[in-house]
Amino acid sequence: MKRLASSDQGMWRRQITFLLASSGSAIGLGNIWKFPYIAGENGGGAFILMYMLCILLVGVPIYMAETVIGHETRRNPVSAMSILAKQANCSQRWRWVGGIACLTGIIVLSYFTVVAGWGLHYLVSAFEGAFQNESSLAMRSTFIDLLSDPVAMLRYQTLFLMAVMLVVAMGVRAGLGVAGHVLVPLMLLALGLLIAYSHSLGDMTAAFDFMFSFNVDALNWNSFLVALGHAFFSLSIGMGAMMAYGAYMPKRTSIPAMVFTVASIDVLFAMFAGLAIFPIVFANGLAAGEGPGLMFISLPVAFGNMLYGNFMGALFFALVVLAALSSAVALLEPAVAWLNERRGLPRPLAVLLLGAFVWLLSLMSMFSFNALNHVKVVSDLTIFEALDVLSANILLPGVGLALAFFIAWRMDLRKFAERPFFGLWIWLLRYVTAPAVLLILLSTLMQHVV
Ligand code: PHE
Repeated sequence: MKRLASSDQGMWRRQITFLLASSGSAIGLGNIWKFPYIAGENGGGAFILMYMLCILLVGVPIYMAETVIGHETRRNPVSAMSILAKQANCSQRWRWVGGIACLTGIIVLSYFTVVAGWGLHYLVSAFEGAFQNESSLAMRSTFIDLLSDPVAMLRYQTLFLMAVMLVVAMGVRAGLGVAGHVLVPLMLLALGLLIAYSHSLGDMTAAFDFMFSFNVDALNWNSFLVALGHAFFSLSIGMGAMMAYGAYMPKRTSIPAMVFTVASIDVLFAMFAGLAIFPIVFANGLAAGEGPGLMFISLPVAFGNMLYGNFMGALFFALVVLAALSSAVALLEPAVAWLNERRGLPRPLAVLLLGAFVWLLSLMSMFSFNALNHVKVVSDLTIFEALDVLSANILLPGVGLALAFFIAWRMDLRKFAERPFFGLWIWLLRYVTAPAVLLILLSTLMQHVV
């Protein structure tokens, strides 16, 4: 199999750039906002253990598959699949998998930027001292007020989206690569400070009990679905992002080592985010099972009642915005690379067109909290919720399954035979990863469609 020398988009010169950019994409709202509350809702320690198994047995093999596809072909996800399908004498329809992956990234970006916009709004509010001595009731109505005001949401979402577009327009080296080098260390610093703060003023013991107590009773089939879906989302797989980043990876890089390192960083970051958040939530006598409102209701109340709360609250929401930014660029990049390589659009123009499309699509999510909140799609879900379910539970596993199937059963694997961990990887893809994903997909479809 002939390997193309370099991507049309340019390449990263050093492995560390790949590592930082990929970690930046993995660490996002999923780690800071979603993981702590789903771990809380699904029984803490036992759920965390199950989540790690999902990461290892399903997430890492598919992550490797995506990276290998990008690295071998050095092309955008659509062309990459097309090249590999041709080499394997398979139908050109396989390139649709790449296309659906890019499209999924765009759909996810449309609601991801809405949540990131809330984060930006809260960052400004924290600086202005808006959390100071607020009660839970007041904070809840602040959040509801924001959700009922599309103009306020739109302002911050647009600002955030423009930052994303700017980074992607600057290209692979000066945009995505530099963003990784700048944002990831900043995120680690902010998280470190927040943990130190939580440690000294919060209730660490209660947080540990909550996160690591082994409550097997709380586990059920649904928690398995949640864990697996989140493993996809958190590792940024199923959206073409890792195919795109794999295409920019320097030549001599050990893919298993890189993938394993990024997955470990991602899991650790999520756990440490829990250890930054829960101690102060508990120290203020607030509930952890608040669900999605944990970050936008309980946490601001907790900060508002603590020493240096305004500053630390602002630092927390700054972390949220930075993490969201380094993730969002990875959602936009695959489709930009595709428009650029296949359709010949200059990168800035591709960014502008796709950005405008994302912006329009995000209006639906924003209005689903107010003017359109009576519009229910399937199973009584609002548009925002339906987009989340459609992407996280159907499109991501669907793309993941197709890729696992392609690599394990269709691709010409002879040239990989000598590589370390290869046998284990293919075995996992065939007998563990693909069946597990198929199961989750069928179960979700039955739940929402049938
Ligand atoms: N992994 C990111 C998170 O945890 C989300 C994401 C998915 C980012 C896909 C890029 C690509 O929030």
